[in-house]
Parts: sequence; structure tokens; C-alpha cells
Amino acid sequence: MITREQIVEALEQLTDPLLHKTLKETNAIKEVSVKPEKAHVSIKIALAKTGTGEQMQLQGTIVKLVKELGAATVGLRFTELEPEELAKHVAPQKEVQTLLSPGSKTVFLAVASGKGGVGKSTVSVNLAVALARLGKKVGILDADIYGFSVPDMMGITTRPVVRNERIVPVDRFGVKVISMGFFVEDNAPVIWRGPMLGKMLNQFFSEVEWGELDYLVLDLPPGTGDVALDIHGLLPSCKEIIVTTPHPTAAFVAARAGAMAIRTEHEILGVVENMSYFESKVTGEKEYVFGHGGGQKLADDLQTKLLGQIPLQQPKWDDRDFAPSVYDAEHRVGQIYNEIAGKVIQAIEG
Ligand SMILES: Nc1ncnc2c1ncn2[C@@H]1O[C@H](COP(=O)(O)OP(=O)(O)OP(=O)(O)O)[C@@H](O)[C@H]1O
Ligand SMILES: [Mg+2]
Repeated sequence: MITREQIVEALEQLTDPLLHKTLKETNAIKEVSVKPEKAHVSIKIALAKTGTGEQMQLQGTIVKLVKELGAATVGLRFTELEPEELAKHVAPQKEVQTLLSPGSKTVFLAVASGKGGVGKSTVSVNLAVALARLGKKVGILDADIYGFSVPDMMGITTRPVVRNERIVPVDRFGVKVISMGFFVEDNAPVIWRGPMLGKMLNQFFSEVEWGELDYLVLDLPPGTGDVALDIHGLLPSCKEIIVTTPHPTAAFVAARAGAMAIRTEHEILGVVENMSYFESKVTGEKEYVFGHGGGQKLADDLQTKLLGQIPLQQPKWDDRDFAPSVYDAEHRVGQIYNEIAGKVIQAIEG
């Protein structure tokens, strides 16, 4: 007749489907008793998790096994491993390092403005590309959840992949890119509000595999709304670059973004004046089509520096590698961005 020892020995070879360790190792065999007169065996097994499909499978295996050993009937019960026992077998969760972890050395550079359309996204994209050209490890986070534009501006046609449950940013011109645009179908409008916004932003930090970055450029939505506030809350040590056009009233509006940065104790690195002038290719003459002096005035008001003035000009378009808003290194405007990036590095790294 079948003995208790035989059954235990056989059961010990089986594995816990979740822990991938033998039932002997997990100390899982809680009870085995044999009623010889009826050839009935009753068994109690502890698993890491009960009520799973894997448990059903194991159940079948055990019943078959014990019957093969000579049992006529098998009573099988499952329970869950005691937390102390379980703790011995699961590897302690590796603390996932994110850009927000205390040890992170990433410098956050938020690009802000008082109003829309002044060129925040253009500046963000080109600043990021220029920093990468200068050898820095750079990411760009398109924090304009509703009005995302970074993927199109950089000419990105692929989407991020998910690896080990983490989102891997798209690499473009040596810059790691994440945008809400990657996660909406067919340019559909994004209709999340309030708390969802903050959550989304949070995920862009915690669930994206940024790797080690020297700089993360954040392209903020226009104005001083929810997202800008969330960013301020999320990144207490963020540095800011304020973009304005040269018109004095534009600078006046931009000052609000500056005031918000100051109130939230974000250091303002400087001002970028965009669309500063139009330079005639024929005569080389500069025309200040959108006014004059706004950038310097704003920098003075905010007690910071004017990092650069960017003329009105389109990048050269390369049909084979189309990135409509990226100025290459040789382009006159590309060079200005390189200078601005150099000043940013100087300001941060000394
Ligand atoms: N220096 C420049 N010369 C020519 N066109 C420019 C320049 N800077 C920006 N633009 C164009 O102006 C438009 C607005 O720029 P951009 O989208 O960067 O502004 P934004 O501040 O990010 O706007 P929004 O507030 O909508 O996010 C775009 O079409 C961009 O290509
Ligand atoms: Mg924008």
C-alpha cells in the first residue's frame, strides 16, 4: 500500500508555478494523510498565490501523480504561503531608479512662456538637439499634453516600445523623446482633465526608461495653467528658460511665466528671444518685424540673462530625413542654438 513518505517524496519534486521553486524548497507541503482502508489520500499545499490557472494545472498533476502511486481518491486543498515564508522566496523588489529618485543627477530645464505660439516647442527641440550635439545625454519631455507638437517637429514617425513594462523613449538626433502624441490614436484630441493630467506627467517620469540623463528639457504648454503648476510641484529643483518674442507687450506677458517660476522657487536660467528679426539674404539687413528689445527688457525685469536672439528663419528641409523644425549644426540658427546650449551648460556646470 502507498505510504505517506512516498507521496511526500513525489510532491517535493513539483514546483510552485509562481516562484519556480520546488514545493520542498518553499516548505509547501502542509499536510499529507493516508487512509489505507479506503486508499484515500488527503493533501494540503501552500502556494505563493491561489486561485490561479496555474493552480488548476498543478491540481491535475498532483491528483494524477498520487493516483499513479496507488491512491483511489485524492482530497486536495490549497492555501497561500505565510507572508514570512513567501518573503524568503521572492527577490526583494529592486528599487527602480527614475529621474525623480533622490540620487538622480539629471538637470531639468523647463521651457516656458506667458503665451502661445512664441516658439517654446521650437526652442525646446533645438536646445535639446544642440545639447546632444555638445555631447550631453539629453531627453525631451513634451509636457504639452493637449497641444503636443514635438514628435512632428522632430519628424518622428515611430512610436516608443515597451520593454520590461517600461516605456522606451524614441531616439531622434541623439535625444530621447516622449510625448503624449505617441499615445493617442490618429491625432485624436486629448480630453483628460485635472488629476489625470498630473498622473500622466508622473508616469512620464516613473514609467519611462530614460536611462541616465544629463538634461531633460520640458516643453511646457503655454501660459501658467495646470501643467505648469504640476511641473512646479513635481520638480522642485527645475530650472527655467523663458521664451518671448521681441515685442514689449509679449515680454510683459512672458513676465507672468517668470513670476510663476520665481514664486515656485525655480531658478530662471535666462530668456530666449525668438523671432527677433528678419535678416535679408540679399542685403544682410536686419528688420525688426516684431518689435525690438523685448527679450532684454524681460531679462532685466527677471534679473536674469538674455541667452540668445533667434531670427525668423526656417530650417533646411531634407526630404530623406524630414524634421521640419530642427536646424542642423551648420545652419546659422543651428549655431545660435549651439551657443545657447553652451551658455546653459556653463550656467549649470560652471
Ligand atoms: N525663429 C523662427 N522662425 C520662423 N518660424 C518660427 C520660428 N520659431 C517658431 N516658428 C514657427 O512658429 C510657430 C509656433 O512655434 P512653436 O510651436 O514652437 O511655438 P509654441 O510657443 O510652442 O506654441 P504653443 O504655445 O502652441 O505650444 C511654428 O509654426 C514654428 O515653426
Ligand atoms: Mg508648443
